[in-house]
Amino acid sequence: MVDIYEEMGDRWAHRELLLLADPDERMVNRYLAQGFQLIARMDGQTVGQVVTVPVEDGWELKNLAVLPAFQRAGIGRALVGAAVARVPAGTVWVGTGNASPWILRFYEQCGFQRSHVLKNFFVDNYPEPIFEDGVQCTDMIYLRLEKGEGV
Ligand SMILES: CC(C)(COP(=O)(O)OP(=O)(O)OC[C@H]1O[C@@H](n2cnc3c(N)ncnc32)[C@H](O)[C@@H]1OP(=O)(O)O)[C@@H](O)C(=O)NCCC(=O)NCCS
Repeated sequence: MVDIYEEMGDRWAHRELLLLADPDERMVNRYLAQGFQLIARMDGQTVGQVVTVPVEDGWELKNLAVLPAFQRAGIGRALVGAAVARVPAGTVWVGTGNASPWILRFYEQCGFQRSHVLKNFFVDNYPEPIFEDGVQCTDMIYLRLEKGEGV
């Protein structure tokens, strides 16, 4: 049984998970102190986390990760659901790389809809090329969900 709670202490305590979703520590530091971090725990072990921050027109899921050994068990979706439940009414955004179509489908299954694309975001903002499943991540694809729909 997965238990989801809000981290009230050091968010970098979940370093392995944070860097699994976003390998650039400098980028993580830009948003980690904002918003809130939810932790998923199973049998006392931390197995996933999500960081959600306020943005100009709502909230944004900034960093979502589940330990590889615990993936495909519904924990990612549960974390997204808990983060959406925790924000007040409005729009929830999430941006993801163009290289993994299944991650787009994952968010669509959570009720998000594709919104817009930031061309070359990963090329312009990261010092090293990022590859997912052997494909270079270049563009950031944004999806949106109106709270009350989906998840
Ligand atoms: C993305 C991530 C958080 C998903 O977490 P998860 O706990 O494995 O996801 P869930 O079990 O809730 O998956 C829900 C559905 O998403 C889809 N999905 C999830 N992982 C998938 C995969 N590797 N391949 C294809 N579809 C996948 C499936 O449809 C799945 O439902 P199913 O298992 O019944 O088929 C996890 O894969 C992860 O941590 N990845 C590494 C970090 C990362 O890429 N973060 C996202 C950055 S935007």
